[in-house]
Amino acid sequence: METNGTFHKEFYILAFSKYVRSQFVIFFLVLFMYLFCVFGNLLVVTLIYTASQLHTPMYIFLGNLSVQDIVYVSAILPQLLAIIVTGDTSIAFLRCIFQMFLFVSCVITEFLLLTSMAYDRYVAICNPLHYAIIMNKKTCTLLAAASWLIGIFSSLKYSLLVSNMSFCSSQEINHFFCDMKAMLKLSCSNTTDVHLSILVEGVLFGIIPFILIITSYAYIISAIQKICSSAGRYKAFSSCSSHIIIVVMFCGTSLTLNLKQDSQEFQEQDKLLSMLYILLVPVLNPLVYSIRNNDILKAIKTACWKVK
Ligand SMILES: *[C@@H]1O[C@H](CO)[C@@H](O)[C@H](O)[C@H]1NC(C)=O
Ligand SMILES: *[C@@H]1O[C@H](CO)[C@@H](O)[C@H](O)[C@H]1NC(C)=O
Repeated sequence: METNGTFHKEFYILAFSKYVRSQFVIFFLVLFMYLFCVFGNLLVVTLIYTASQLHTPMYIFLGNLSVQDIVYVSAILPQLLAIIVTGDTSIAFLRCIFQMFLFVSCVITEFLLLTSMAYDRYVAICNPLHYAIIMNKKTCTLLAAASWLIGIFSSLKYSLLVSNMSFCSSQEINHFFCDMKAMLKLSCSNTTDVHLSILVEGVLFGIIPFILIITSYAYIISAIQKICSSAGRYKAFSSCSSHIIIVVMFCGTSLTLNLKQDSQEFQEQDKLLSMLYILLVPVLNPLVYSIRNNDILKAIKTACWKVK
């Protein structure tokens, strides 16, 4: 601990205080998205638990993604709503660190879960004969557990590092939650090592998974091209593209925002861009994956029937 007073300090989350006249609109937008997200994802989890035919790897990953999405938005949005309503922007230091911990672990877990899902689809479509052997219960549990554990331990490391830093000057976080990069900007400790670690883990748990996901879908799409029925091809292709759009939206925004160089002038745009992967992606995930996963399978099954 560099300063004794660290734990008595608080931060101030500026959120959207610049947009005074739009507070009302922002509040209802965020509230609507939050409720929609929690409700949609709870529905997915309940469906998966109650329907025994959905106890397959694909849906187990989807269930985990939904739980992760609920934690993800609940870590940030209720606090943001409270700030907008009460106008009280202060947040206790430890609470801020905890929010950062939940957020960072969810982002890493989401990258890894999305990778597991893409791999699962890749094996199911490109190697269907060996699917049951490759994607057995053990592999599936291992992939899901690893996604959570890596996310939690990596995030724990950052939380400990940041909580041991000293914050001397301004404690105003120019973001709508305790974002790690925004907090590092306020620290007067040496942040060289933390930034290096973010870069390394950004490649390891961000860029590499992203490349793996895109590669899986490239194989899936080329396998789909070989399906002869054009209706089946169209359906499977449109499902795949909706998955890819979500993945690019989530991975693209979170990677660019977290790995690019800081600059003062783009702070406001960055805040709005973060909304994409913090608000929109968790809302779209259950819609796109639960509806369109089935489409891929159905399309391929019908196409295969026609071939036979
Ligand atoms: C998450 O994955 C684990 C391990 O495979 C599984 O046991 C659990 O049921 C999954 N959770 C949900 C909500 O699907
Ligand atoms: C910060 O730490 C790095 C490596 O630990 C060191 O190379 C650098 O000189 C330090 N910077 C300052 C301003 O102390």
